[in-house]
Parts: sequence; C-alpha cells; structure tokens
Amino acid sequence: MGTKTGLAVTATVVTVGLAAFWAFSAPLPRFAPQDAARLEGGDAGRGGIVFAASDCASCHMTPGQPDRRLLGGGMSLPSPFGTLRPPNISPDPESGIGRWRAIDLANAIMSGVSPNGAHYYPALPYTSYAGMSETDLRDLMAFLRTLPPTDHVAPPHELSFPFTVRRFIGLWKLLYFKPGSADGPTAEEPGLARGRYLVETLSHCAECHSSRDVFGGVIEETRFAGGRNPEGVGFAPNITPARLSGWTQEELARFLETGRSPSGREVGGTMKDVIANLAQLQPEDRDAIAAYVKSLPPRPTPSP
Ligand code: HEC
Ligand code: HEC
Repeated sequence: MGTKTGLAVTATVVTVGLAAFWAFSAPLPRFAPQDAARLEGGDAGRGGIVFAASDCASCHMTPGQPDRRLLGGGMSLPSPFGTLRPPNISPDPESGIGRWRAIDLANAIMSGVSPNGAHYYPALPYTSYAGMSETDLRDLMAFLRTLPPTDHVAPPHELSFPFTVRRFIGLWKLLYFKPGSADGPTAEEPGLARGRYLVETLSHCAECHSSRDVFGGVIEETRFAGGRNPEGVGFAPNITPARLSGWTQEELARFLETGRSPSGREVGGTMKDVIANLAQLQPEDRDAIAAYVKSLPPRPTPSP
C-alpha cells in the first residue's frame, strides 16, 4: 500500500469515526414540539409533592439559608470528574427558568437535553427521572412557577478536559441511559407499583445507594447494595434485605419521616436532606417506599 493510499484510508477512517461519533452522541430530547401544549396546565398543589419526593431542593436550593423553596442554585456538588454547580431553577426570567415551557423542563429532567439542544451531566439524575409520569411533570412545572424568583447566578462548573465536552455525554447515555424508563427489578407485585415509582423514579434512591464504575455509571449488581456517596464523602449503606432485614416495614417508614433508625441513631450526611423532603409526603407514600424497599432482592454489600 502506497503512502497516498495509506493517507486516504486514514482520512476515511477518521472521517467515518467523527461522523459516527457525531451521530451516536446526538442529544435526543424526549418530547417533540407537538407535545408542548399537552404538558402545560398542571396542578401546583400536587406538584409540591412531586417536588418533595424528587429531592430537587437538595441540589438546587440557595446554599447557606434555610428556605427549601428558594432555588438560586450554586451549591458545590463534588464528583470524581470535578465540581458541579446546580443552576438557578427559580422562576426568575433572566437567571432562572422563568421563560421555560413545561416541555423544556420535561426534556431537561427526563432526557438530559437543554432547550438549546445540549446534553446535561447525569449529576442531574435524569437516568431516574426518565420514568416520571406526564401528569407529575406537568404538576411539577406548575409548582415551580409558584416559587419565589431569585436572580442569584450559580458559579460555573469546575471540570477539566475531556469532561468539559458535553457531546461525550451522548456516548455515556448510550451505555447508561434508558430513555423513557427508570431502572429497577422488573418482577412486580401488585401493590408495589407506587413504591416502585417513588423509589426508582422520583426519589432516585439507587443513585446514591449503589456503586458506580469508572465512568460514573451505576453497576447493576450493586443496585441498592451500597456505594460511595456520589457527592464525595461518606458511604450510602446497603438498603437491601441483606443488611436491612432487621428493620420492619413500619420502622423503615418511620425512619423516612424522622431520620431516626430503630436503634435510635440520627441519620447524617446527604440522607438528612432526603428525609427533610420525604417528611413532607403523605404517610401512604412513605409506607409505599418502605414496602418496595423491603421487597428488593438481597444483595451483598460491595467493597468500597
Ligand atoms: C443530585 C443533584 C440534583 C438533583 C436531585 C436535581 N438536580 Fe437539577 N441539576 C443538577 C445539576 C448538577 C445540573 C446542571 C447540569 C449540567 O450543567 O449539565 C442541573 C440542571 C437542572 C436544570 C437545567 C437548568 C438550566 O438552566 O439549564 C433544570 C431545569 C433542573 N436541574 C431541574 C431540576 C428539578 C426540577 C429537579 C427535581 C425534579 C432537579 N433538577 C433535581 C443537579 C440536580
Ligand atoms: C443523595 C444521596 C441519597 C439518596 C438520594 C438517598 N439516600 Fe439513603 N442514605 C444516604 C447516605 C449518605 C446515608 C448514610 C447516612 C448516615 O450515615 O447517617 C443513607 C442512609 C439511608 C438509610 C439508613 C440505613 C442505616 O442502616 O442506617 C436508609 C434506610 C436509606 N438511606 C434509605 C433510602 C431510601 C429509601 C431512599 C429513597 C427514598 C434514599 N435512601 C435516598 C444517601 C442517600
């Protein structure tokens, strides 16, 4: 093979490779423009429950003040890839999402695609929210619009190359993102559906209570079996019956409201925030979460 042919082959391979990269990494919004009207007109009261169950405030509330409804963003979210700063999602038209339509929110949190067609980092847990019902999405947007606007501007993410290239997230999604559904055990008993939806989709418990591989994807065999806290320090314990069998369903439901374990230990770390949100749910929803968690297959705790 002559040098010229070699160069031509190399050029072709590179071109095809780049074209394939571009095609496979394309952001795919979940909803199309004709879905926009259908997603408007939610119920703000019910949306407050979706908001609490989904833990949005834990990442988006303005740090250093107690109001979980003030969503100025800017807290530090450490990850193995750098520090992320959840943005302002208050109804402020400039700094927040005041100009967004419900479909923009839907595409952001259910498929990780921004209104101008860029990928979001999976630190925004769209891998779980992907399974959100349209009714809940609609209600959530109605609720977000009732919150106080703030013009606070979150500092930019602190990531280094190649994690600065959002297009790579498209390849990550090919491996770890299932459009339109949340993960989780498929065997489903009637009566566990609500608990399954809360645990797997809205409250995204597995995002913290699982171990992740080098690319930050959840390792399926460790789902709910514990893992290093994605937000840096600490370990989110195994919550499958392999470790939690000593807790009754009632004790677990009470823990989700009070943050106190059956032995009287007060919960700490990021779970404290999760409890602050879950405490706002109806008791039936906490019972449903507890029932589903008790039904999980037992799995051994992975070594951290
Ligand atoms: C674990 C932390 C976390 C949780 C929980 C979370 N988010 Fe976020 N969110 C983020 C991060 C980080 C970003 C920025 C992602 C990026 O820049 O790619 C983000 C981005 C967003 C954006 C895009 C805003 C913009 O200006 O582009 C919206 C909208 C949003 N989140 C809404 C929500 C809602 C609603 C909830 C609850 C249903 C929620 N988030 C829960 C971390 C979180
Ligand atoms: C943002 C990350 C995060 C999310 C989301 C999360 N957890 Fe946790 N969870 C933790 C951490 C960290 C701890 C350990 C807290 C401690 O050490 O006090 C914990 C502790 C617990 C414990 C106590 C276990 C024990 O042995 O003391 C239970 C039970 C639990 N979580 C259940 C859940 C359920 C159910 C959900 C979903 C509704 C959930 N968690 C969502 C991070 C999280």
